[in-house]
Formats: sequence, C-alpha cells, structure tokens
Amino acid sequence: MRRIDVALGDRSYPILIESGLLGRADEVLGPFVRGDRIVVVTDENVWAARGAKLDAGAEIVPIVLPAGEATKSWGQLAALLDKLLELAVERSDHIVAFGGGVIGDLVGFAAAILKRGCGFVQIPTTLLAQVDSSVGGKTAINVPAGKNLVGAFHQPSLVLIDPDCLDTLPPREVRAGYAEVVKYGLIGDPGFFDWCEANGAALLAGDAAARTQAIAVSVAAKAAIVGEDERETSGRRALLNLGHTFGHALEAETGFSDRLLHGEGVAAGMALAFRFSAERGLCPPEDADRTANVLAEAGLPTTLAGAGVAADGARLTAHMLHDKKASGGTLPFILARGIGRAFVDKSVDLADVAAFLDRQP
Ligand code: NAD
Ligand code: GLY
Repeated sequence: MRRIDVALGDRSYPILIESGLLGRADEVLGPFVRGDRIVVVTDENVWAARGAKLDAGAEIVPIVLPAGEATKSWGQLAALLDKLLELAVERSDHIVAFGGGVIGDLVGFAAAILKRGCGFVQIPTTLLAQVDSSVGGKTAINVPAGKNLVGAFHQPSLVLIDPDCLDTLPPREVRAGYAEVVKYGLIGDPGFFDWCEANGAALLAGDAAARTQAIAVSVAAKAAIVGEDERETSGRRALLNLGHTFGHALEAETGFSDRLLHGEGVAAGMALAFRFSAERGLCPPEDADRTANVLAEAGLPTTLAGAGVAADGARLTAHMLHDKKASGGTLPFILARGIGRAFVDKSVDLADVAAFLDRQP
C-alpha cells in the first residue's frame, strides 16, 4: 500500500492508495467506526457500480443521493444534514464520502457545519476526485450566483483510494480526470510530464500500474502544496488553478453542463494558458505544442472550437470576472515559463487576454 501524508499539524492525515483497497477498507476504517456502524454517503451510480465492493468492517448505513452536479445544492445539503441528525451523528463521529467530486464536496461541507464540525473520510471513486478534489479540504455547494460559492475549508481525517474504482468509470470521465494528472507535470514536475507523454495511453486503457503511479505522483504533489499553503494565501496553492481561469470561461459559456466536463475545460484552459504564455515570450512555443499534444492524444479539447465554444474574447473574459478569484476588475492568471514552471501573474491585462482569445481557433 502506498501512503502519502498531508502535513497540517494536528489536522494531518494519510492518503492510502492500493488496488482492491475497497475490499480491505475494514483494515483502516476501524478508528472511524462508532459502535458497529458507519454512515456512507454516496450517489446512485457509485452505489450501483462499487457499493458491493466496500467492506467497512461494520454495518454500513448508506445515504444514496442522485448523481450529478445538481446534487451540490442547498436542498440536498439541507436534506443530508437532517438525515445525519436523524441518525444521531455526533461531533466525534466520521461520515464517509464515497463518490466523485460532487459527493466529496457536498459531504465535506456537511461535515464542516454539522454540530459545528464532525469528521469525515474521503473514498474518491473518479480519477478527478482521486488526484485532486478528495485531498486538501476544499468543500462547497453551488448556488444561483455561481459554482462553489458557498463552502468551507474542512480537511478529511483519511483519504482511501482504490484505483480499481476506475474500472467502471465512463471513459469520458477518466479522460477528464487525466487533465488534472497532466496539470501536476505542467505546474512543477517536467519529469512527470515526460512520464505522461510516455504512459498516458496505457493509463487511459486501464493499465493498473500506470493508474496507481499517476495517482500517487499527483496526490504527493497536491499534498505538498496543501501542506505549504492550506488556504491559498501564499500563492503556492493558486498554482493548482493552472488552466482553470480560461477553463472557467469555457465552462460558463457551455452552461456548466455535460457539454463540457470540468476536466475538459481545464484541458483546453491549460493549452490556452501555455499558448498565451508563449505569445508573451514567456515560454518556448515547443512547450505549448507539447502541452496541447499530450492532451489531444488523450482525446481532450485543446482549442475553443474543440471545447464547443464560439464566443469572442470580450464575452469570455466577462465570464472570467465571475470567477471567485476575481477582485477589482481583474484576476490572477497562472502562466508558465515552460513545462513544469508555472507561476502566478497578477499583472495580466484582461484586454490582452480578450485579444488573444479572438485570435484562437
Ligand atoms: P462526479 O462526482 O459528478 O462524478 C462523475 C460521474 O461519474 C457521476 O455520474 C458519478 O455518479 C459517476 N461515478 C463516480 N464514480 C464512479 C465509478 N467508480 N464508477 C461508475 N460511475 C462513477 O464528478 P467529478 O468529476 O468526480 O467531480 C466534479 C466536482 O468536483 C465538481 O463539482 C467540482 O466543482 C468538484 N471539484 C472539487 C475540487 C476540490 O478541491 N474540492 C477540485 C476539483 C473539482
Ligand atoms: N483544485 C484546486 C485546489 O484544491 O486548490
């Protein structure tokens, strides 16, 4: 079993990764079981596809929610909290978030506010959740004013990752999660980017060793960043938003819908961020080409047209200003000096971004 720790003083926690771990979860969930039961919150797809595999070593009390982004809502949050109170969940208890980023974000937020904060364990079942959202304690729901606008930082007590969960994940969702894997190479690990170029196809085809390696490297990178900058104050954690500002505009333009999954928006966004960096003379054009190629080879979009977006630069930059990170009519951009050399640039003029986008295919 691979173990990576998120070092946050008395809120530190381990991330455990092993093929088949769901079936041996009883070996590690023991300290989080009260009496002889544990509450597991999941969605209907995950429960149908993976529920029978989970051995918690105790009676599982399942709460099965509808699948999909709409579940990250006030209504579902309120119903979940009522249900947890009905089940007499106490502050010292742990609830389990068993699913993708939707379940992780919702359950994490419920845990943050139930009785002013109870514990929770993440068992992520999508590639995106395994390499990104289950680690780091960002929790949130969506509200009419926008996505993820109401939430809290609340760290889990344990993250338990079974790469075999990906066996039943739809291939499009696997590809979307893979964009976040490539992101870690692009941010700060050129050797890992080379690894993605060489092993991405095997990973996407379901190669167990490649999957585990990609998850372990990604999680180690995220754990290190979260350990240094838990609340995104120093700028270090902001690097994880590479591709997200461009991607957010594309997701907004496509209505945050299945037309463009989050990871697909991030893929096109990272290709755009590298192309923008190259145009500004910051980054070698070959690195922007390699970035687009590795994503395109995985079947991910790397252009506006590929993302199904025909809007002009003015419209797209207007979307960017609705991003949480916007302040005073501008926002920080994550740009790059090359592969593995991302940095935060707070001086980008949105008019330059709009003009750049107008020239993009
Ligand atoms: P998701 O949770 O909606 O899962 C995608 C689909 O796959 C769903 O239909 C789900 O039911 C299904 N599914 C999940 N696991 C499965 C499995 N093993 N087998 C079969 N089907 C399975 O989507 P996601 O991409 O995991 O997460 C997206 C969410 O994550 C967004 O709400 C986003 O805002 C959030 N997010 C949060 C963070 C963070 O740091 N907290 C980071 C990135 C994204
Ligand atoms: N997914 C971005 C972060 O966790 O900070």
